[in-house]
Amino acid sequence: MTQKIIILDFGSQTTQLIGRRVRELDTFCEILPYNKFPKDDPSVIGVILSGSPYSVHDPEAFKVDLSQFVGRIPVLGICYGAQFISHTLGGKVEKTDSREYGRANLETINLYNPLFKGFDRGSQVWMSHGDTITAIPEGFEVIGSTKDVRNAAFWSGEKTEDGKSSNSKSVWAVQFHPEVYHTLQGKQLLRNFVVDICGSRQEWSAASFVDSTVAELKAQLGQDRVILGLSGGVDSSVAAVLLNRAIGDRLTCIFVDHGMLRKNEFTQVMDDYKVLGLNVVGVDASAKFFADLAGVADPEQKRKIIGRDFVEVFNAEARKIADARWLAQGTIYPDRIESLNITGKVIKSHHNVGGLPKEMNLQLCEPLKWLFKDEVRRVGRQLGMPEHLITRHPFPGPGLAVRILGDITPEKVHILQEADDIYIRGLREYVDTDGETLYNKVWQAGVVLLSTVRSVGVMGDERTYEHPVALRAVTSTDAMTADWAHLPYDFLARVSNEIINKVRGVNRVCYDISSKPPATIEWE
Ligand code: XMP
Repeated sequence: MTQKIIILDFGSQTTQLIGRRVRELDTFCEILPYNKFPKDDPSVIGVILSGSPYSVHDPEAFKVDLSQFVGRIPVLGICYGAQFISHTLGGKVEKTDSREYGRANLETINLYNPLFKGFDRGSQVWMSHGDTITAIPEGFEVIGSTKDVRNAAFWSGEKTEDGKSSNSKSVWAVQFHPEVYHTLQGKQLLRNFVVDICGSRQEWSAASFVDSTVAELKAQLGQDRVILGLSGGVDSSVAAVLLNRAIGDRLTCIFVDHGMLRKNEFTQVMDDYKVLGLNVVGVDASAKFFADLAGVADPEQKRKIIGRDFVEVFNAEARKIADARWLAQGTIYPDRIESLNITGKVIKSHHNVGGLPKEMNLQLCEPLKWLFKDEVRRVGRQLGMPEHLITRHPFPGPGLAVRILGDITPEKVHILQEADDIYIRGLREYVDTDGETLYNKVWQAGVVLLSTVRSVGVMGDERTYEHPVALRAVTSTDAMTADWAHLPYDFLARVSNEIINKVRGVNRVCYDISSKPPATIEWE
């Protein structure tokens, strides 16, 4: 049985980060809404309560029945989680005049407590809360304080019947956030909790995932035939290779070229897939997409047409595999986590099967549904996939269509492909001072063609009146938020020069310095 840590989500923005940190400790975890603790699951070895946008005093604050797990398995409350424990078990939580936000140091710390094993006195932690715990519940003991926060960390070390300290009956609570980077020994704290206190055997690894998933897929799929839509992206490619390992040629992959992929991408990716031994049908449907998009400039309209055409083309291919029983998808865990919103309603993030032909009656197979993006990449490496496929940036489904402002024509796509190719090649070739390529340092990059705008320029003796392009590069961990990447000036200068000199139709290059929010990554 795979051991797991349950992370109960009270709506904090960093809940997913807690999950990622636990997985980095080679331990499986599930993020569940605060009120969905799986009571009778014997594989649960510990519980973490997340932060929350609420104060425990808010009437709509999320509440959980602690008796479901307190006294049975180890518990760690973080921020709101700590305040909720205190508030519910008889301590006191009060509003502070000033929000406690930012760096602080654990000036007093009980280094004998198992949660702080390996900590340094004065260790830096990250605080982010409006309320503070002014009294801890009876039976609890303070184990860490900062200059301003006396009850920064506390625990109740329950004893077993023979008088020994029992991890499984103990509760820890910290008002700071161990999951964020600015808590410098946060990883150590989580390791102490997950490995030492909860007793994780640290068996969740890419290798174990591949072995167990291939075995499960074999059992689940038997002799059935499976269809999978490939996009060239990491998730669908890794899902395909995993399925191929389990059922070989009974997997048919469909890769649709809508004409708005990057320069040469369709042929390069098809070659990659063939080298990987995948059974792939490549469909060049670009003529249909261009015809249907002709004259359409509205962003939503363009997306709708592409979505509809994609389903049509995909379905026509899928129908040819008449005996298929399953549709496989590269859905990953962040796509599925039920997220809580501020109004207190639980929202299920929808994941869409895209209107497949009903008569085919396909069942859904999602082999990556428990993985975070970085884990998908590790699994890809474990499967021996080439690095350029694994480190490939995310790319929007509608492709370059959402990076051309205005209507779409094959000529405009060609201009954008050329400019984009210079930019992306440049990012791959530029090795930064830390030895990493710019391509690998950014989450995503691309060029946007402002085809509705013209500006004046001079080239040689000639006056030009052509389009600007905007270069976009962002850093991110999940695309929910993103910062514009601070690319070196010498790199931007070189790329700008090359684009203007070589790409006909472009006479100006801008760099997009907007972050998300309030901007988005794509322009449309
Ligand atoms: P935005 O522009 O919303 O994008 O900040 C967030 C991430 O999603 C990608 N994206 C898409 N991916 N189909 C996709 O598969 C789409 O229609 C689509 N639109 C945006 C975008 O590239 C970024 O990684």
